[in-house]
Amino acid sequence: MLLIHVTTAQGATHEVTANEGQTLLDAVMASGVDGLLGECGGCCSCATCHCMVDESQLALLPEPDSSEAQMLDFVATQRMPGSRLACQVKLQTHHQGLRLTLPERQF
Ligand code: FES
Repeated sequence: MLLIHVTTAQGATHEVTANEGQTLLDAVMASGVDGLLGECGGCCSCATCHCMVDESQLALLPEPDSSEAQMLDFVATQRMPGSRLACQVKLQTHHQGLRLTLPERQF
């Protein structure tokens, strides 16, 4: 079991539990925290699962693949250095304590 720290665009903080192998999108959606939509169901074609990972933790994640990198150009709010698509981040044990912020809107 992993613990992920999620801050909403309004500044509310939540601790979300997740399992290894789960995507960041599935973990946040299952927790009931609002802010991610995931309209395409996780197939990297909608960019409505945009989140910003704490920059100091970016090295914990693999670089976005080419489809994710391309879709990040279509996020609804400003793309930040820590911007990722939550459906493309598969959680592993070393992601314990990951911190992310959700954007104001997804479309
Ligand atoms: S859920 Fe559509 S790109 Fe992530």
